[in-house]
Amino acid sequence: MLTTVDHPLIQHKLSLMRDARTGVKEFRELAGEVSLLLAYEAMRDLELTSARFATPVVEGEFPVLGGKKLALVALLRAGLVMTEAITGLVPAAKVGHIGMYRDPQTLTPVTYYSKLPGDIAARQVFLTDPMLATGGSAVAALSTLKEAGAKQIKLMCILAAPEGVAAVREAHPDVPILTAALDDGLNDHGYIVPGLGDAGDRIYGTK
Ligand code: URA
Repeated sequence: MLTTVDHPLIQHKLSLMRDARTGVKEFRELAGEVSLLLAYEAMRDLELTSARFATPVVEGEFPVLGGKKLALVALLRAGLVMTEAITGLVPAAKVGHIGMYRDPQTLTPVTYYSKLPGDIAARQVFLTDPMLATGGSAVAALSTLKEAGAKQIKLMCILAAPEGVAAVREAHPDVPILTAALDDGLNDHGYIVPGLGDAGDRIYGTK
């Protein structure tokens, strides 16, 4: 399932991120803010239970989170800015990291780093990959998560291309995808169009 979270605040902030004149500091802040707004939607179906306590006025039953514990997993390096922002919202979530590079011969993604919560099988997992372009890394990262035992996973992106969405749907039809926008497609260099450029470079000021 693909959910495009087209809230006006997200769309406005995304347009600022797309603007090539937006500098590193503002871009990073915007990426964090958009991630928080995406997380609000991604976590809409978290289970609630109730707790009994007294307000300063009266005793009663009140809703508190009660379902599976959460894990945020960043696809390095651009996914970091998303997990760092979202931990502000769910500070008890455990955080994992997956690093991948593309093998120059086979052009397939190779995992060079994977550090995941040991109890990931018992957690609701949110994988953060800001740019779902060809989908190669996201598909491989989702396989890594499933090999580690993860069963309930959502993929959170800031931008997605139809090619990436199709690749994830094909390989992992059980994984819902949330994105701030579905763009037109990829150019010859694999960039999302209209896109926002290289998310990692824009977040970290590299080139
Ligand atoms: N990764 C990025 O950072 N940007 C794109 O447009 C595609 C992949």
